Formats: sequence, structure tokens, C-alpha cells
Amino acid sequence: MEIKNLRVNGTRLQESLEEMAKIGATPNGGVQRLTLSDEDKRARDLFVEWLKEMDLEITIDEMGSIFGKREGKNNDLAPVMSGSHIDSQPKGGRFDGILGVMGALEVLRTIHERKIETERPIVIVDWTNEEGSRFAPAMVASGVWAGALDRDWVYKRTDISGKRFVDELERIGYKGTVPAEKWPVHAYYEYHIEQGPVLEQEGKIIGAPKGILCLHWYDVYLEGEANQVGPTPMEGRHDALCAASEMILKVNELPAKMGGNMVSTVGEIQNYPNSRNIIPDKVHFTVDIRSWDDDLALKAWEEVKKDFEEIAKRRGCPIRNEETWRVEHSPFDQKLVQKVLDTADELGYPALHMVSGAGHDASYMNQIAPTAMIFVPSIGGRSHVEVENTKWEDCEAGANVLLHTILQSAMEV
Ligand code: GLV
Ligand code: MN
Ligand code: MN
Repeated sequence: MEIKNLRVNGTRLQESLEEMAKIGATPNGGVQRLTLSDEDKRARDLFVEWLKEMDLEITIDEMGSIFGKREGKNNDLAPVMSGSHIDSQPKGGRFDGILGVMGALEVLRTIHERKIETERPIVIVDWTNEEGSRFAPAMVASGVWAGALDRDWVYKRTDISGKRFVDELERIGYKGTVPAEKWPVHAYYEYHIEQGPVLEQEGKIIGAPKGILCLHWYDVYLEGEANQVGPTPMEGRHDALCAASEMILKVNELPAKMGGNMVSTVGEIQNYPNSRNIIPDKVHFTVDIRSWDDDLALKAWEEVKKDFEEIAKRRGCPIRNEETWRVEHSPFDQKLVQKVLDTADELGYPALHMVSGAGHDASYMNQIAPTAMIFVPSIGGRSHVEVENTKWEDCEAGANVLLHTILQSAMEV
């Protein structure tokens, strides 16, 4: 069979995704596979078992990322790399991340069973902790691997119960010994669901993002004064939760105030002591600001910080802001993006040039290697929710685009 007529096995891809969806399955059809949890470990174990079936050279690095390398004719040439993440959001969906790992696995299985020899090696990867919802920030393993984040800083990050990243990594048995250090990569492709409504609205099957928005994460800590809610008059209270409430609305109003293209969100909050009859004396909440325009996002933070300070002062609630994480916007390699568009066209799938509002490990990979992504539609534009869904035929279409983009790059000498 001519290589151009090669296609992935859509049924096998569906079965792998369904098998993975059982690990951490939630009652409403989603998955909860928080990073470095027991569910993450079980899914990793299954992934490694599947890699072993293809005699790949498997390595696990000191960040817990799993790499499977298939040799090429010339192993001195930089490999083509593809993958995504196995971890999920709390009450997340069955496609975010895992589609890119199972998609790359299906591509390798297809190449393996046809005994296709590529010029370059091909590496499949599962990056640890892409989501950043258990241990902030996100994309830490690709960040360390690319040299953008410090390994020991990430190791010390804690979850809400105070457990350290490094201890949890060790506990699940995935603290490898191979240094998390970049090597030359010829091309990096990440296959993912869109997580937004655009492809569906435009009636397209494949999305080729020109890049990813910047991501800026902040943590805000407020102090108030606790007291019995009944006897304490309304005047003179220092209610940390009321201060936070005003601040949260300022974050919500920020994009309209700034103009330009940005989104800003408070998604996480902890209120202490969290009792209905105690005035809250401690609040922590997060701020997430994204834009294609890094300066606009930075100005927005400066702007909202002034609002925070005014509110904190007026309510007598001291504030501390932490600038936790910043990733600049990532314009992908134009030639690789064009390759995705051309391949979709050759395979007969309508495609769209777009942007990614969601963060991906491709952001950090883009800092060290030519990078592109392949998107498929999210039904109803829903993601990071249990009802997250994508048609099986679209999963197969995206995997076919991945197959042929990988093959083209892997045949380049
Ligand atoms: C990653 O899932 C993100 O926050 O976009
Ligand atoms: Mn993802
Ligand atoms: Mn996600």
C-alpha cells in the first residue's frame, strides 16, 4: 500500500480512549484523573504496557514524563515527537489530553503494524501535570524539560492538603532518573480537542492553531478578622470573603475595561474557616488572564491590582499577591501549521486556521522546537466538564492528520 493511502484504525483508537476513560470514571460520564493520583498511576501503567507491545525504548524522566521512542533509519537525526497528557481536571472530560496521547499511540501502532521505516526516530510522550489544578502551575514537566521552569521549584509545589509534588511523584512510582532536559526535536505535533465552540460553529473538522494565548496565573491571599456573625455589627467588620467577592467581579469586568482580546477568570477559591456563623478571616483565590497580546495581559493585571488594593484598604483586609506563573503567547512554526492545513486538505477534511485559548505543553515545546497542533471539534464547545465530548469519526480524522504530518516530518532527512 502506498503511504499516502495509509489510515489509522479508528475503532482501535476509540477502544483505547474508552479503556482509558474507565480509569477515574465519574458518575456523569467524565473522568477525574488528577495529576500524580492513584488514577494517574493506573492510566500511566496501562500506557506503558501498551508502549511495551511495540518494543519502544521507554524512558521516564525525573519529572515523571513518559517517553517511548521508535527507531528510525538514522537515529542520529533529531526525532519527531508527539503526545499530550494523561492527567485531567477534577470532574474533567474523557478527551482533554488523553486524545493526544492515544492519538499518537494509534499513529505508532499503525506505523508499527505496517512495518514502515521512517528516516527519523519518532517519540511519543505523556507529559506530567499539564492541568495544574492539583499542583499549580500547569505544563510543568514540559516547562522543566524545555528549560523554562526550575525542577526543584516544581518539586516543592504543594496541593491543597500540603502534599509536595515530588513526594507524590515518588509515591506513584514515576520519579524517573533520566534528567528532564531537552534534546533536539525535529518537529513536535500535539493533537487535542479544541475545547471551544469555533470548529463546530464553522462546520470544520480540523483546526490548525497559529499559536496559543499567553497564560498568566496569580494567587491572591486576603486576611480579615473572624468573629461571631450574630453579635458583631455590620459596621466595622473586616470580612475577607466580601473583599474577595468585590475583587472577583473586578476580574470578570477586566476584559471589557481593557478592550482588546483577552479573557480573565477566578476559578478557585478557599474561604476560612468556612463556617456559616463565623466572619471569614482568610481567603485565597486564583486569577487567570489570557490574551494573544502579552502586554495587554500585563497591563490588565496592573490595573486590577490597583482595584484590589483599594478594596483591601477600604475593607481593612490586608492583601498579598503572588505572581505564580507566566507563559508568553506562543506563535507556532508557520511551516508546520501549513503542513497541518495541507494534510487536512489532502485527506478531505475541512480545516480552519485559528488560535488556541487553552494552554498546552505545545507552548513550552514551541520555545525549543518547530511546533504545531491539530484540533478536532468539541461538541457544544464544552470542555473541562464531564459532558466533554467529540465524535469518534472526528477523533479518527484528527489521528489521520497526525499520522500523515508525523510521517512527512519523519521522512525528512
Ligand atoms: C489547560 O488545561 C488550560 O488551563 O488551558
Ligand atoms: Mn489538555
Ligand atoms: Mn485541560
